[in-house]
Amino acid sequence: MSDASAPSGAFQNRAASAGPTSKTLLETRGLSKNFGGIKAVTGVDFRLGRGELRCLIGPNGAGKSTFFKMLSGQLPPTAGTILFDGSDITGEPPHRIARLGIGIKNQVPSVWDGLSVYEHFFIAAHRRLGARRAAAVADELLTKLGLATLARRDVGALAHGERQWVEIGMTMAQDAKLILLDEPTAGMATDEVERTVALLRPSTSALASSSSSTICSSSA
Ligand SMILES: Nc1ncnc2c1ncn2[C@@H]1O[C@H](COP(=O)(O)OP(=O)(O)OP(=O)(O)O)[C@@H](O)[C@H]1O
Ligand SMILES: [Mg+2]
Repeated sequence: MSDASAPSGAFQNRAASAGPTSKTLLETRGLSKNFGGIKAVTGVDFRLGRGELRCLIGPNGAGKSTFFKMLSGQLPPTAGTILFDGSDITGEPPHRIARLGIGIKNQVPSVWDGLSVYEHFFIAAHRRLGARRAAAVADELLTKLGLATLARRDVGALAHGERQWVEIGMTMAQDAKLILLDEPTAGMATDEVERTVALLRPSTSALASSSSSTICSSSA
């Protein structure tokens, strides 16, 4: 990925960069990742506002997942800077970045077969909340995602699109300031894609708070 989707001049005005009171939540400057001789991500300048939804679209191998993994601390950048909500988080470990408010749904599914939908949401919410409030958040997510009838169902028995929604819900349960969704609609039927888009679109979203921001990716 060698896109520079931010307006030219990004980062030149530090006063307008990703400080806690600025409208910008996330900013990358010259973000790059090489795997040996493979240049997966090259010099990406990117800026995301608070409450904004952006989608990265690129073909297989364009570097979308690598970009997300750098933002979430799963991969250290080869070069460049990541500013998030007033902090330079470049190279920070995943647990610290998660605590600062970045939640990610990775491209490769990470749900646990054998646990129910409710248990997934409860566990995700329980990372930051006590049991009573986590249970309330789990119930709320079941309703908002339209999964209430599947609450006690083993996630291993769900259809692909439903498993994706479980993962999206787990990311939402973290109440992150920035939500990263790597290919949330991969493998979904058209009606499932439309439902997912409605969940994520700021004007219709029932999921995120109005101040949270989302970056999603798609290879289509
Ligand atoms: N851990 C790794 N080691 C070596 N090369 C890697 C690694 N991860 C990704 N790559 C390479 O980096 C490039 C970008 O891969 P990446 O997975 O970020 O692309 P993508 O846009 O997410 O693709 P897709 O649409 O298939 O998910 C590819 O050439 C890929 O083979
Ligand atoms: Mg990918």
